Amino acid sequence: MSILVLGGAGYIGSHAVYQLIDQGYEVAVIDNLQTGHQGAIHPKAHFYKGDIRSREFMKTVFEKENVEAIMHFAANSLVGESMLEPLKYFDNNVHGTQIVLEMMKEYGVKHIVFSSTAAVYGEQEIMPIAEEAAELPTNTYGETKLVVEKMMAWCEKAFDLKYVSLRYFNVAGARSDGQIGEDHNPETHLIPVVLEAALGKRPAITVFGDDYDTSDGTCIRDYIHVEDLIAAHILALKYLQNYGQSNIFNLGSSQGFSVNEIIETAKEATGIDIPVQFGARRSGDPSTLIASSEKARQVLGWNPARTSIKQIISDAWNWHQHHPNGYEGEQYD
Ligand code: UFG
Repeated sequence: MSILVLGGAGYIGSHAVYQLIDQGYEVAVIDNLQTGHQGAIHPKAHFYKGDIRSREFMKTVFEKENVEAIMHFAANSLVGESMLEPLKYFDNNVHGTQIVLEMMKEYGVKHIVFSSTAAVYGEQEIMPIAEEAAELPTNTYGETKLVVEKMMAWCEKAFDLKYVSLRYFNVAGARSDGQIGEDHNPETHLIPVVLEAALGKRPAITVFGDDYDTSDGTCIRDYIHVEDLIAAHILALKYLQNYGQSNIFNLGSSQGFSVNEIIETAKEATGIDIPVQFGARRSGDPSTLIASSEKARQVLGWNPARTSIKQIISDAWNWHQHHPNGYEGEQYD
């Protein structure tokens, strides 16, 4: 039987595939390669190129694979873009997942681990944010993930689907053996953008706003190493299989770092005096987002091991240095 990983050629999905295969799971991958990379797909995974929105394509995969459970990473995930193209986000993230859930119903697959986001919370007064906080998304991206959480809850009532929804804070880093890493085009996330500036691929890192109500005026975020994040997915899968219960968990390190602190740590980790410039605020950015991950620790037994921000940045830097152009132009079997 196989674990079907949707979006298994993307940044986070590819790290899931590698860790699942490390742990002896049989893995099938679906990816339309819109933002994913052929080079990020583990050679031992059974790869199906296609779109989760195509029922015909999805049926061919479910006919061939004996699917035990699903990990669902296939989504558009840029907050800014989601505000400009909301329907693209509803189409891929909501309609796409509707088809996934239809397939699960049709083929009797009961368990799904779903990638959700801190963006479901929007602006919150109380830090750290616990799962009980009100869901008040301030962008389309967060709204689409919240809609899917609700869809899954209704499916549970109707046909006993069981889901674990994992609300990610700021995911960063790369596989510690350097085999795979983060490659978005265009890149918008802080840590890889800072590292691109370190490599000279950008003239400088622009800090979006230094007049926030925080210690140094720049935004504070909670960064979590991609390998710790995936460890929680595998625990979530086991939780579904052992207890047959649905649940929702935050995944973060429960520590906040300002944009300035990230840049300073990147200077230390790279040994490069990265040029910095200050710009206007980016629309939709909350000033501070820090997770309470107590629930994941208590219920799943999650114990993140790579919580040092320097290690997160060093692992990302290791991959960036060896792949300055990402996966582009590299040869794969
Ligand atoms: N930032 C800069 N300069 C840059 C890029 C980012 O100053 O060039 C700042 C942003 O303004 C923000 C912080 O760095 O304050 C982090 O920005 P990212 O774009 O790396 O991440 P976000 O916090 O905006 O978004 C992340 C995920 C989303 C998720 C969200 C939850 O990428 O998918 O966290 O709030 F929805």
